[in-house]
Amino acid sequence: MNGSVAVLGGGSLGLLLAGRLRAAGIECVVWTRTREQAARLTAEGLTLEENDGGRSRRIEIEAQALEDIRNIGEGIVLLAVKQTALTPSFLERLAGIVPPEGTIVLFQNGIGHEELLRNALPGRTLLTALTTEGALRINDTTVRHTGHGDIRIGDDGDMDRNRIRSVEEMLKEAGFSVFLSKQLKEAIMRKLLVNAVINPLTAILRVPNGELTATQHRLELMRALFEETFGILSGYGLSDKSDSWNVVLGVCEATRNNRSSMLQDVIAGRPTEIDSINGAISRMAAEQGLTAPWNDAVTAMVKAIY
Ligand code: PAF
Repeated sequence: MNGSVAVLGGGSLGLLLAGRLRAAGIECVVWTRTREQAARLTAEGLTLEENDGGRSRRIEIEAQALEDIRNIGEGIVLLAVKQTALTPSFLERLAGIVPPEGTIVLFQNGIGHEELLRNALPGRTLLTALTTEGALRINDTTVRHTGHGDIRIGDDGDMDRNRIRSVEEMLKEAGFSVFLSKQLKEAIMRKLLVNAVINPLTAILRVPNGELTATQHRLELMRALFEETFGILSGYGLSDKSDSWNVVLGVCEATRNNRSSMLQDVIAGRPTEIDSINGAISRMAAEQGLTAPWNDAVTAMVKAIY
């Protein structure tokens, strides 16, 4: 894979990233969990639907199952799998295929993944990315781009400039709005707050994001979870409570017809990211000697769905 690009993950975000890169003429391969999906993508191509205007494009793409990948050289891996996929055997596999010169861009929700990757793949360049792009996987070979957002990439100064720039340029060329951010930690905390409020409640109530603000009872529920979560995350650098509340409401509005990723997971019967979102917040509370009854409760409820 000398100087090449791989998107690891055949879910909503992985297919959106791969589809946009290929549509812009950038060589990339998709690494999927199953051989079936890889075979279908390679044979049928990837269909990329745009929500606005309903434009749909079929894009030729090369895909391989993760288990079939052997030696890769220097290159960029866009890691677009859920936190739940980051099992010890997955990390071991990744360590076997991404050499020390490789760059991995981490697109996970929640927190804790960076540390996991750093321990499992020492020496690789790890870039943290945060995205507000909305995507919905329709099936193995079709993805719908449900909402335009942006991609922020952490740039904390000790990173290799050329690598950051090449990831930035590549994603810009694929049509994404990309920003380098020196304050990604605060943005990560804010995204964690947004996910901690929207994801479990939409999954428990089984409603699209916009429905959360539709009744007074739901708003009160959101507010209670928000208050507790903001209090905990303020110990980790999050500031400006009223602005943060407006951000949560703004995301509900901007993605009003979308199903949150956690609702998509519970509908599909897949494991959710609850442990790296609300479960992580309960652990962050404990570290500060605080309790987190709302986060504990939504964690238990989401786990109890299946
Ligand atoms: O996880 C998600 O679904 C998204 O991050 C968000 C912002 C909650 C919108 O659906």
